Amino acid sequence: MELIFATNNLHKIAEIQPLLPASIRLKTLKQAGIEQDIPEPHDSLEANASEKSKVIHSITGANCFSEDTGLEVVALKGAPGVKTARYAGENAGPNENINKLLDVLRNENDRRARFRTVISLILNGKEFQFEGICEGRIGDAPSGNQGFGYDPVFIPDGSDSCFADMTLEEKQQFSHRRKATDKLVGFLLVEATKL
Ligand code: IMP
Repeated sequence: MELIFATNNLHKIAEIQPLLPASIRLKTLKQAGIEQDIPEPHDSLEANASEKSKVIHSITGANCFSEDTGLEVVALKGAPGVKTARYAGENAGPNENINKLLDVLRNENDRRARFRTVISLILNGKEFQFEGICEGRIGDAPSGNQGFGYDPVFIPDGSDSCFADMTLEEKQQFSHRRKATDKLVGFLLVEATKL
């Protein structure tokens, strides 16, 4: 089975690719010849993930999936959530986003947060969604240089290290994206037997 993964984020591809069995061949947007950036205009991860996979399906007619991820901080009532990528502004980079988050939480003792990933799969024209959650907390200062995004300040429950201090394999043990992908793969392996 061939599946287009509707992203241009090489980190997401690097995390998801090794979780797929050989029977599921992943095609990136670039490999599918699609250059455009897909908008994320909605106010939920579910709706944004859905929009991305539907746009790619409407262009290609092919089976495809997308994912949208948000960081939900308890003391911020779930923010930045769907605005995680643009937390410090429309064109903000990861360091600016992290600095804003640390600044906002400067005097906050409750550091609990979670990453939530929603995958939207379109298989034979029908949509299915899968969620993965990683509970954890926001560190006091950035650390490490692995991973991407907020990894230098996110410490998953069950570890004393932030994601950016972990190897890819270590991050996968906890990862929101890995949990959502495992559900996707489990579903596809069952559905593939019916195709
Ligand atoms: P999006 O899913 O590409 O919209 O990502 C939303 C924001 O969350 C971006 O700022 C990403 O860098 C960040 N992000 C997504 N997944 C992760 C992750 O696994 N670790 C750290 N940051 C992430």
